[in-house]
Amino acid sequence: MNLPGGGRAPQPTSAAPIPIHEKLSELWSIFRMRLADLSRPASVEGVLADADEYEAALRQYSGRGLAGATAFEIGFGARPLRLFALAASGVDVTGSDLDVPLIRCSPREFAAMLRRNGLERAIKSALRFAIFDVKERRELKKLLRARGREMKIETRRLIVGDAAELSIPEQSLDFIYSEDVFEHIPVDALRVLTAKMAGWLKPSGLALIRPNIFPGIVGGHLAEWFPQVVNDRSRRRRSQPWEHLRHHRFRPNTYLNELSRASYRELFAPNFEILEERVKDPELGREYLTLEVAEELKQWPHEELFSNQTLFILRPRQA
Ligand SMILES: C[S@@+](CC[C@H](N)C(=O)[O-])C[C@H]1O[C@@H](n2cnc3c(N)ncnc32)[C@H](O)[C@@H]1O
Repeated sequence: MNLPGGGRAPQPTSAAPIPIHEKLSELWSIFRMRLADLSRPASVEGVLADADEYEAALRQYSGRGLAGATAFEIGFGARPLRLFALAASGVDVTGSDLDVPLIRCSPREFAAMLRRNGLERAIKSALRFAIFDVKERRELKKLLRARGREMKIETRRLIVGDAAELSIPEQSLDFIYSEDVFEHIPVDALRVLTAKMAGWLKPSGLALIRPNIFPGIVGGHLAEWFPQVVNDRSRRRRSQPWEHLRHHRFRPNTYLNELSRASYRELFAPNFEILEERVKDPELGREYLTLEVAEELKQWPHEELFSNQTLFILRPRQA
């Protein structure tokens, strides 16, 4: 197997040991981006677009929709909006994340978060809660209501823990989904997790796993190259396109396993049949691949450079 090794134990991914000035610069860029997002509901609409995509994929490959399905989310993140939207759509969904989410921002919740996630994540979450989360939830509630659905915030659906260490009954799930998470999990843990996932799914079940592929232009996870700002050519940046493959001068504020799209295929193959691979935006970054940059990146196939967020639709192999 051609997968890079990765013996690290899973640990919170939202804070990496990088120099303090780089950390502050990354956090400031992300804050500005989130502020800009506030004025357009696109990020919340994206949550519903994902739910619609899951519905269509389930119908296409398993002949059933979301309503009444049992599901599990790997890495629901600091804002479990996708999970709340699916629950409102009649899915019996639970999920896990390494980090404690801040749902009500009560002192007890904050203390638990401080203990488990550390000071950096706790401060970030409290600020985010006050400035962004409340508004986003209100927005999602409104959009769901327009579809005749009621959003409920149910903390019982949220498990704090490493997905690779969970015990879930065999063949109990209709689908498992995950967005922007697998690239943060060390390869050894991913091998354990993918084998477990295949066991948790019913024979007709599906895994819908969308990692952010490392060789893509956003795969280095530098805030300057987040998907929502890639096309902004007027933006002043310290780093170059595909900095993480060419110059390696800056590190993101997160752990990355650096898997390519080909490596994900190898990772999934022992336990899953890959039914489809869908790239979210296959043109993302095309304008930055000048002749000079292409020459520097010639060992990378275009398929890798233009993968970014790629949805793998997976069916468990029958024993
Ligand atoms: C970039 S965030 C994505 C969050 C969310 N899926 C979203 O789309 O907003 C990655 C999340 O994966 C979580 N994570 C990383 N490794 C994990 C693991 N082994 N088990 C559960 N969650 C994990 C992190 O704590 C983090 O919240």
